[in-house]
Amino acid sequence: MYIQSGEWVIISRDRRPFRFRDNIFKNMRFRLILIIMLAGLVPCLAALFGIAKFYESRAVELRTAEIQNQCTILSNQLNNYGYLADTSSDVINAYLTQLTNIYNGRVMIIDRDLTVIKDTYSLDEGKTDVSENVVRCMQGKTTNYYDRKNHYIEVTSPIMEAGGDQVAGVMLASVSTDNIEVTRQVLYTHGGVIVGIAMILLAAVSVFLADRMVRPIHKITGAIENVTEGYSDDVLHVDTYTETRQLSEAFNKMLGRLKLLDESREEFVSNVSHELKTPMTSMKVLADSLLEQENVPVEMYQEFMGDIAKEIDRENQIITDLLSLVKMDKTGQTINIQSVNVNDLLEQILKRLKPIAEKKNVEIVMESFRPVTAEVDEMKFTLAISNLVENAIKYNHDNGWVHVSLNADHKYFFIKVEDSGIGIPEADQAHIFERFYRVDKSHSREIGGTGLGLAIARSAVIMHRGSIKVHSTEGEGTTFTVRIPLIYVAA
Ligand SMILES: Nc1ncnc2c1ncn2[C@@H]1O[C@H](COP(=O)(O)OP(=O)(O)OP(=O)(O)O)[C@@H](O)[C@H]1O
Ligand SMILES: [Mg+2]
Repeated sequence: MYIQSGEWVIISRDRRPFRFRDNIFKNMRFRLILIIMLAGLVPCLAALFGIAKFYESRAVELRTAEIQNQCTILSNQLNNYGYLADTSSDVINAYLTQLTNIYNGRVMIIDRDLTVIKDTYSLDEGKTDVSENVVRCMQGKTTNYYDRKNHYIEVTSPIMEAGGDQVAGVMLASVSTDNIEVTRQVLYTHGGVIVGIAMILLAAVSVFLADRMVRPIHKITGAIENVTEGYSDDVLHVDTYTETRQLSEAFNKMLGRLKLLDESREEFVSNVSHELKTPMTSMKVLADSLLEQENVPVEMYQEFMGDIAKEIDRENQIITDLLSLVKMDKTGQTINIQSVNVNDLLEQILKRLKPIAEKKNVEIVMESFRPVTAEVDEMKFTLAISNLVENAIKYNHDNGWVHVSLNADHKYFFIKVEDSGIGIPEADQAHIFERFYRVDKSHSREIGGTGLGLAIARSAVIMHRGSIKVHSTEGEGTTFTVRIPLIYVAA
């Protein structure tokens, strides 16, 4: 335990600090300790109270039976001695005194007129007793009653007429149950001590158990912290419980994804550097070869400078592409949505690309199935479609064709860009939308391009909450299908 910036902190065995400002009831270990303790305490207390209760009722029952017995015996003796007529019998009086002494009680003899003719306490002699038990006993029934609050048992026993079946009087005995109460208290005290000791043992066991139970969770937390701090790339394997196994699996999946993202980020950076360096290297070679020679002819200067200018253009194009990708990565913030006539826009795009197509003698055909007006960002949408059509021209054979069609349903509009070009091998189709990915690097270099066009097109389409799909057969041609909602859905 130590003080950190004026606050008490406890460090547990696994070195995970518990701060007092944390809500203690939210601490899993504390909750487990509490649950285990309660699970032990409740049955212990129930057993203690149960035993005390059982003892009390059993002891009272036995005492009552014993007194009842004594009273029955004595009431027979009373008959024999004609005690109801004359209470001076020494034998009976001695019996009565003995009874009261043994049981720490009081005995009263009541005659048929409900008058107390003998009271071992000599308090109520001559008085009339009309209590319920006495009256019921006069009808020939023995009664008993336990007064728990005042700690006594009251027993009545009828005194029968000599030789008859008439009730001549009642013998009423009340005995103290103080000793039962004392035993009950002793039971509670001893039981309480035992429960206390059991609780201390249970507390130790529960701390141990709770510690063991939360350890896998701390293990997971530790592993996650290690990953956050960056010095571990181990997979997590905590299969103590089904839940921790599932958590580990979920964590490993997430870690896998993070690693993948990290790898693709690294690859992206190295690709960017490489792509930016290539034109630089060419420029350097061109410039050096001019500098190294003396009396360089003007024609050569012009040729080399022309090449340098081309490389600068290329560098510029890469940077422009990268910037437009970065801009689109910053999600919808920069999107400028307007209602646009898509038919007109497509015609404009194709018109702009016609000169490139004509160079290869590629025929561009446009087909509109219906007029389409949609909410799009004109600039980004143009970028996406231009890249698709540009590719369709670039990766085409001379005298080939490009077929662009526009259609719509009640929710989306669809643009298909089909070509009669070289096609994309099946294995590459999944990667062509990745930044800098090019199918045949040597061929692509010949054709020119950085592998950013489709990444840009995809980002632009996704910004419009749309989708882009490719279908291609090598040697036959490629079809890109773009689907975009007619009405822009804000995030
Ligand atoms: N219509 C197509 N037919 C055949 N291959 C294609 C087609 N479109 C794309 N590709 C392949 O996918 C790769 C990636 O295309 P992408 O447009 O991203 O890059 P690029 O055209 O090489 O360069 P950039 O467009 O950045 O100038 C291309 O290099 C090419 O190999
Ligand atoms: Mg391209």
